[in-house]
Amino acid sequence: MTFHVATCAGLGGRHLSSAFRKLRTLCGITELHSLPSRRYSEGGRLDFMERNQLPSPTSAPADPSTAPHVPVMVEEVLGFLAQKDKSRVILDLTFGSGGHSRKLLEASPGVRLVCLDRDPLAYSFAQDLQQQYPRRVLPLLGRFSDLPTLLTRLKIEQGFFDGILMDLGVSSMQFDTSARGFMLSQDGPLDMRMDGARDPEQITAANVLSHVDEDSLYKVLKYYGEESHARILARALVESRYLFQRLESTKELANLVSSLVEGERRTDRLGRHAHPATKTFQALRILVNNELNELDYAMRLSQYYLRPSGVLVAISFHSLEDTIVKRHLQGVDLDQTPATIGLGVAKHRTALSTYSKTEMDSLTAKPWKSLTKHVVLPSELEVAANPRARSAKLRAALRV
Ligand SMILES: C[S@@+](CC[C@H](N)C(=O)[O-])C[C@H]1O[C@@H](n2cnc3c(N)ncnc32)[C@H](O)[C@@H]1O
Repeated sequence: MTFHVATCAGLGGRHLSSAFRKLRTLCGITELHSLPSRRYSEGGRLDFMERNQLPSPTSAPADPSTAPHVPVMVEEVLGFLAQKDKSRVILDLTFGSGGHSRKLLEASPGVRLVCLDRDPLAYSFAQDLQQQYPRRVLPLLGRFSDLPTLLTRLKIEQGFFDGILMDLGVSSMQFDTSARGFMLSQDGPLDMRMDGARDPEQITAANVLSHVDEDSLYKVLKYYGEESHARILARALVESRYLFQRLESTKELANLVSSLVEGERRTDRLGRHAHPATKTFQALRILVNNELNELDYAMRLSQYYLRPSGVLVAISFHSLEDTIVKRHLQGVDLDQTPATIGLGVAKHRTALSTYSKTEMDSLTAKPWKSLTKHVVLPSELEVAANPRARSAKLRAALRV
């Protein structure tokens, strides 16, 4: 398990106040889910016309005024996942507005897609795409952690997919709609749920700020936001409960954080001015949506549902996500690795010799073979045309 996921699990430990413990329970998955039992599928591939088996969305009809999301690194994604002359089934785990899915369908007539998203708006876009490609698109509404249930319902088993795509983070439709509560520049309710109102149990960012204790908030800001002023901000945000009314809008939070780190000039990777509350917003968003646990689980699911030699493409947008992807691809699971296996293997030959060859093979076996020597970054041209691509990092790997 990765450092960041371990950190996240640590937030659920004995340090938590009862209020925050309750929040975590409300948060959805707090433990990693177990995978379905190991079963190989021979033939019996999915009939894409079985629409009656699909779950239906519970809210949020499509809003045609919402700006569509511009997909990032499309050529690279197609290079790994689209092969003109081959019939393949690809799982798009993060459908969004379907930019990548659409390109895959256009690039190779043999491609069929299962399209997942937790956002009912994205799901309705996937249904629209299904209207256009009735036999090639199957929309699913849910989180990564719902996938085993959704796929079991469809009788999809281990090793089914030829390719899996995950394009992480929030979509422009979510980010640019002030009512969703992700925006710093426009006022809206402090919400940040990618699922919208679909899950009445899911906490909002305002719920977090009105209940969380100071130490837990400090950890959230420090680890999820990588915020250097985490201690000061956590104290002030908790104290603000007693001084003002509850923090309920994005502007209230953004203004309060700005006033606390006043005078400090913050910039993004392109050297452009960054709002002082950017990291606070990132931290809350990750917590509200349980993003790192979801990602960790999605990496395990990818290994399970890809066939041998199937291809995973993962695009991440900040170092916490990329670290999780990278560690899975490298087969590093620090929780499982015996302390005796360090970098200087020769030094530990005596300790190592206590393991049988089979045990050593299973301990050191890598589940993935990387398809790129280094992480792949977007071209300057792409970043100039779409500044949101600037922090994208793509990794692709073959399931061994
Ligand atoms: C960056 S957008 C994907 C954009 C998409 N590739 C496109 O071209 O339109 C990420 C999407 O992933 C979805 N998402 C993020 N985490 C998820 C999770 N744990 N389960 C399901 N969907 C998730 C979000 O709701 C969002 O719509």
